[in-house]
Amino acid sequence: MNSVKHVAIIMDGNGRWGIKNKKSRNLGHKEGLKTVEKIIKSSIKNKIRYLTLYAFSTENWKRPKKEINFLFNLLESFLVNKISELNKQNIKLKIIGKKKFSKKINILLNKSEKQTFKNKKLQINLALNYGSKSELINAFNLIKINKVKINEKNISKYLFTSNIPDPDLLIRTGSTQRLSNFLLWQIAYSEIFFEKKLWPDFNENDYNKIIDKFYNIKRNFGNI
Ligand code: IPE
Ligand code: IPE
Ligand code: MG
Repeated sequence: MNSVKHVAIIMDGNGRWGIKNKKSRNLGHKEGLKTVEKIIKSSIKNKIRYLTLYAFSTENWKRPKKEINFLFNLLESFLVNKISELNKQNIKLKIIGKKKFSKKINILLNKSEKQTFKNKKLQINLALNYGSKSELINAFNLIKINKVKINEKNISKYLFTSNIPDPDLLIRTGSTQRLSNFLLWQIAYSEIFFEKKLWPDFNENDYNKIIDKFYNIKRNFGNI
């Protein structure tokens, strides 16, 4: 049986859920946050060590200002209200992506990371202003500046996910089968599950079903 250490999730479908159920994309984002909380709990139950959540891509800046502001306000209130609880549960928060936000958000993110830095139960990598291509370019530049060899070990070392094992499992909800610039290097050997449900409809049961399927996959890594 495979063990699952690291799950990465492209949480897609909030906007469509919101339009369908509440006539507002933003209310879909609000609902999606409830799923985030459920999946965090369920990850702990499943003894998963790393959970990487795609929350905002480098391409998502193309969206209307109103939606972007709503998303960052949601992030702000989530951190303000929940970080102590996450900390109590021994959860570590790490931001992956370039922290180029408002001063207020940057301070809050740094504070939340610092507060939970020593926690060991579950590490949540929150992908914010994250793009895999920009992450790789950044890594190659660091390799150049530090005059080290271009090899697998060094590339991995200079990514935002340095010291984190590659995802065993990648899940994308929302019925679209694409990667949208997420962890292109790190998912070289991940098992990929495309889930039809929109993110706000995704629940613990769906998550457990995917994990159960994953346990029984024969992972070859090129071997036979
Ligand atoms: C994913 O849901 C969340 C973010 C990108 C912030 P979407 O907002 O992309 O939802 P759909 O795909 O438009 O339904
Ligand atoms: C991917 O979803 C990004 C996040 C879930 C944060 P998108 O909705 O932005 O992806 P595309 O644009 O449909 O590929
Ligand atoms: Mg989408």
